Amino acid sequence: MPDTHFDILKILSTGAKALGAGTESESRWEIPTIHPDPIDLAVGMPVPEGIPMDSMADHISQVLCSGRYSEMEYEYGRGKADLRELLNDSIHGFTSLPQTPDNFILFNGSSGCMESFCATFIDPGDIVLVEGPSFSGTVETILKYQGRIIEIPLSEEGISVEVIENIVQNSLKNRDVVKAIYTIDDFHNPTGLTMSESNRRAIGQLALDNGIMILEDSTYSGLFFDESPPPDIYALNEGEGVMRMGTFSKTIATGLRLGWLQGSDGAIDAIRKSRSDMGNAPFIQTAVASFIESSEYSRHVKKMRSLYKSQCRALADSLLRHCSDYLEFIEPKGGFFLWPKIKNVDSELLTKSAAEEGLIFPDGSLFYQDRSLHQNHIRLAFSGNSPKRLDEVGLRLRRAFEKLLD
Ligand SMILES: Cc1ncc(COP(=O)(O)O)c(C=O)c1O
Repeated sequence: MPDTHFDILKILSTGAKALGAGTESESRWEIPTIHPDPIDLAVGMPVPEGIPMDSMADHISQVLCSGRYSEMEYEYGRGKADLRELLNDSIHGFTSLPQTPDNFILFNGSSGCMESFCATFIDPGDIVLVEGPSFSGTVETILKYQGRIIEIPLSEEGISVEVIENIVQNSLKNRDVVKAIYTIDDFHNPTGLTMSESNRRAIGQLALDNGIMILEDSTYSGLFFDESPPPDIYALNEGEGVMRMGTFSKTIATGLRLGWLQGSDGAIDAIRKSRSDMGNAPFIQTAVASFIESSEYSRHVKKMRSLYKSQCRALADSLLRHCSDYLEFIEPKGGFFLWPKIKNVDSELLTKSAAEEGLIFPDGSLFYQDRSLHQNHIRLAFSGNSPKRLDEVGLRLRRAFEKLLD
């Protein structure tokens, strides 16, 4: 018998270890409950009934029945030109700075864009400034590439330009490299906040002045309730010193795994040359292009905006009716999330007490790398449940508070 002992732990990369590979710790995202009818407010995904199953089935089968084998073959490089042309046409709402289709490159969701951005630009030890809090999924990618994360406190205006300026000055003295600023400036995950136009202009200029690349994550930008958000930094900077990423995950379905990066010729060329994933599914790219061209996409997104607005309203009203003594929040103008600040009880204990009442949501500390920055918030995703269901949340949450305060 051969000795089959093999020690995986010995060969783990530093990046994998930074994400917890090799440890036995459980994910803090998994909150167990034995409640018979739990309401899941944990994950930011489109409401299942809103996913255009029949239309997507039609468009995908049309592509597959076309007889074009290329739809089922590798499409490396930038991805299908038809879809990139539509992304570049401002009429469809994906960009406010049309350049050429070659200023776009398609990836496996915005997560794939993030992975590729880090692989292209981040060396071990490079400083990357992120909002504190921020979406842990993308921030972890920076950690995997051994970027050094500095969290910049977030206010209603967005991240503070003064704080960034101080960090940049200090890094010059210490010979550290501030390589990038990662911002979710529209309907931020987890806070729902939108950066002001003056902050966007100031951060865009600061990045240009100091040779720092901004990665603007526009995952939620199309999902505004009434008014579109202020101009994106990419457009304000005329495409220089910024890359902007988008995705169809939140507007159509997460399972499409289709997102894009927009950037200057030089930036996209660098990303394209350092990509080694052989591209993502061409038939999905063509089917989504045909969904957009048929105008179904624009009707669908309009419908989803008003649906999410009513879901957000239902959750906010339910919380205001039953829990106003225990929490406060700023109402978002789009996106998927409410970010209540919890008074009098510990937010992490609240997640456990709420799970007993059949409410599943994460503690706010999960959105910080430095947990000491956390100020007792919880994140509630209203995207995945109907207004009727969300109307029940306030009462259940009130019971969870009362149990802790008794
Ligand atoms: C801000 C943000 N960026 C990126 C992603 C990843 O999205 P995708 O499914 O396009 O990879 C998410 C998903 O929740 C997100 O909230």
